Amino acid sequence: MELKVTGAAKNLRGTIRVPGDKSMTHRALLLGAMAGGASRLRGMMRAGVIDAMRDCLAALGVEIEKIDEEETLVHGRHWLSPDRILDCRNSGTTMRFLMGALAGSSVSATLTGSPRLSQRPMDRVAEPLRRMGAQIAGHNGSDQPPLQIAGSRLRGIEYDMPVASAQVKTAILLAGLHAEGRTLIHEPVASRDHSERLLRHLGVSVTNSNGTLHLEPIQAPLPAFEFVIPGDLSAAAFMVAAALLTPGSEIRVQNLGLNPTRTGLLNTMRRMGATIETSAITETAGEPTGELTATFSPLKGIEIQGEQVVSMIDEIPALAVVATQAHGETKIRGAGELRLKESDRLSGMTAELRKMGAQIEEHPDGLTIEGPTPLTGTRVHSHGDHRLAMALTVAGLLASGETIIADAEVIHESYPEFVTTLRSIGAELE
Ligand code: S3P
Repeated sequence: MELKVTGAAKNLRGTIRVPGDKSMTHRALLLGAMAGGASRLRGMMRAGVIDAMRDCLAALGVEIEKIDEEETLVHGRHWLSPDRILDCRNSGTTMRFLMGALAGSSVSATLTGSPRLSQRPMDRVAEPLRRMGAQIAGHNGSDQPPLQIAGSRLRGIEYDMPVASAQVKTAILLAGLHAEGRTLIHEPVASRDHSERLLRHLGVSVTNSNGTLHLEPIQAPLPAFEFVIPGDLSAAAFMVAAALLTPGSEIRVQNLGLNPTRTGLLNTMRRMGATIETSAITETAGEPTGELTATFSPLKGIEIQGEQVVSMIDEIPALAVVATQAHGETKIRGAGELRLKESDRLSGMTAELRKMGAQIEEHPDGLTIEGPTPLTGTRVHSHGDHRLAMALTVAGLLASGETIIADAEVIHESYPEFVTTLRSIGAELE
C-alpha cells in the first residue's frame, strides 16, 4: 500500500484518542495469560504487533476472548506445550517477553520470527536467563531464532544490565517470578517501568531503590485483574509533532498514558519551545492517565543524550522530523539502540528525510539535523518500519507538493486508525 500526502497541511485541529498503549497491552496479555482466572482488559491495542503476542499465547492454550471493540477477556491458566512453532512475526517485545516467561514455565516451546527479528539481538535476553538456569538453544549454536526453550527450575540472580532496555528487564522479571530466591537488576538508566507497575498492582513484591530492582518470587499464581489501558503516547507523538509544526493547529489527545518514564519527547519538545499541556486525571493499574493539548509553536534546535534518549526511544523518528523545522542545530547522541529496532532507524530516517531536502547527518550513535529547512514532497520508503512510515507521513504534511510513502501498510502494526485520525484533524491523505 502507498500512502499519498497531497500537500502541506493547514490548521490541524480537533480532539482525538489514540490506540491503547502497546507496551501495556503486551504486558497485560502476558500477565493475564499467566494469572489464575479471567482478566478483563479494556482499551487494549488491536494491531499487528499485538496479534503476534495473542497468537503465541493462544498456541500455549490461553483463550483470549474479544467481548466487543473495547473489552477483552484473557483466560489465564497453566500453559500447555504448543504443537506448533510460536511465530513472533516482527515483534521484538513478543519474543523477548516470551523467552522470559517460558524459561521458568513447565512447558517447552520454539520461538521464531521475521527475517528482521532474527537479526535483532536476543543474546541480551538469553545470557541473563541462562545465568538463572534457563535452557535456551538458538539457531546453529547462536542466540538467534528459532529459539528452543525448555522450561526449567530457575534461581534468582543479581544482574548488571549492560544496556538500558525495558524488554530485557521485563524478561528477567518474568523469569524471576518463578525462580528460587530473589532477583536483583541494576539498570544503567531507568527504562519504562510498566512491568514493575503492573506486577505491583497484582501484589508482587518489586521495589526500586536507587536504580536497583528487587523482585521476590511468587508463591501462588498471579491473581486475575482488570486493566483499563490508556492511549499510547508513542502513537500520539506523531499527531503532536504534526500539530506543533503546522501553523494554526491545536489538538487535544484524551485518555493518554502519561507514565513519566515515557514522556521524554514531551519534555524535549517543551525545551525546544513547544506549547504542550498535560494533566493527569486518573491512575489505572498504577499508570497515570490524562489529557494532552499541543499548539503550533516556533521551535529551536536542542541537544539530547543517552539518558534522555531512553525515555523517548521510540519517538526519535518523530523528533527527527520536528528537528528539520526547528531553528538551529539538533544533536541526538547515545542513540545507537535505534539501529536495532524494526529497521535501522538512524540510517533509514537519514536516507528518507534527505530525499525530501532535509539537512541531516548520520553518526554511529545519533543524528545531527539543521533547521529550518523547507521539505519537498517526493517518494519515500518505510523500510518496513511502522514508526518510519508515520514519521515520514508527518514530514509529508509539512512538505510542498505530493509525498508518497511506499510500503505504508506497516502502519497497521501499531496504529491501524492512523490515517483516519489524521484526516479527522484536517490532514489530506489518500
Ligand atoms: C518496549 C521497550 C523498548 C521499545 C519497544 C517496547 C517495551 O525496547 O523500543 O517498542 O514494551 O518494553 P527496548 O527495551 O529494547 O529499548
